[in-house]
Amino acid sequence: MEVVQVLHMNGGVGEASYANNSIVQKKVISMTKPIREEAITKLYSTSFPTKLVIADLGCSSGPNTTLVVSEFIKIVSNICKKLGNQPPEFQVFFNDLPGNDFNTIFRSLPRVQEKLRKQMGCGGDPCFFTGVPGSFYGRLFPSKSVNIFHSSYSLQWLSKVPEGIESNKGNIYMACTSPPCVLKAYYQQFQTDFSVFLKCRSEELVAGGRMVLTFLGRRSDDPSSKECCYIWELLAMALNEMASEGIIEEKKVDSFNIPQYTPSPSEIKCEVMKEGSFGIDRIEVTEVNWNAYSNEFNGGDALQLQLQEGGYNVAQCMRAVAEPLLVSHFGEAIIDEVFNRYRKIVADCMAKEKTEFVNVTISLAKAG
Ligand SMILES: C[S@@+](CC[C@H](N)C(=O)[O-])C[C@H]1O[C@@H](n2cnc3c(N)ncnc32)[C@H](O)[C@@H]1O
Repeated sequence: MEVVQVLHMNGGVGEASYANNSIVQKKVISMTKPIREEAITKLYSTSFPTKLVIADLGCSSGPNTTLVVSEFIKIVSNICKKLGNQPPEFQVFFNDLPGNDFNTIFRSLPRVQEKLRKQMGCGGDPCFFTGVPGSFYGRLFPSKSVNIFHSSYSLQWLSKVPEGIESNKGNIYMACTSPPCVLKAYYQQFQTDFSVFLKCRSEELVAGGRMVLTFLGRRSDDPSSKECCYIWELLAMALNEMASEGIIEEKKVDSFNIPQYTPSPSEIKCEVMKEGSFGIDRIEVTEVNWNAYSNEFNGGDALQLQLQEGGYNVAQCMRAVAEPLLVSHFGEAIIDEVFNRYRKIVADCMAKEKTEFVNVTISLAKAG
């Protein structure tokens, strides 16, 4: 499987689209806002560029895509107002893999620009938006041309499925039953990919440039810990159930692996320090419930309904993320059935345990 060709979130604005099923990711973006505020404020208070270049890496398509860059623009405009400075021209780059639905982003831009104009008063500061298709595990921009990089919930995706993991039978990701060589192969792929990422970004950033990166990650030192692997283990359960009923081939399940690695804060720090181009300003871990709509409930029927809806929401969120990968390996015909089963398995699990994603955010400044 060529990840660069196959990986993308479900496009458009339909029922199974990423645009309609990315509330968890939106919640994470709002939870990490103070870290971005601090980074852009530091950046703009130490230098006053007349042109500010912002790039969002792994932007996908939907309401989250323009959220962070709009926030950056508003923060800088407000600082300028306070200081009596002329605001910079903003150049914004939206990056994702070529299969991403860039058309939906482009269609939303006039609305986004209009909203920014209203929120900032007067004519709004000049903003220029551009799409950049390509992998962030390679150069995307000219040398020393970007002021700030942002990425949320994208860097856990690897450039490829690690090699040498044929023994990961019955699993589709790292799991407690994965052989140690599988865990090692996943970790090595993460190390290779993230160090390439850091090197490329350090070449593209201007002096004093910054990055704020949020990973879907884990707290534990154990890479197969439930906090990061369980969501995929439940999907493996649905696929294995279908294999045992002869609906899909067992060897097809055995040869399917998710190209992801959910790192711990210390693994991220270790790569940053090894690569050497960045200083670490701040690193933080947060949690978000699998079901972003969850709230306090009183039990009884309300609890039952919430669990059922929770199962549906989580399954839809994972479908928006994983459907293209599954379709490329198993074909289109089984998808509805996989996610019907997954929804029930997830709802059952949510009734019994605390189910949270762990987010690791790191704020970096290019070393002088
Ligand atoms: C879960 S989405 C996150 C989207 C958005 N940042 C958000 O927070 O809602 C992850 C995105 O990363 C993109 N992605 C994964 N690997 C990538 C790579 N190597 N280069 C560029 N984008 C990548 C995927 O295509 C996907 O759109």
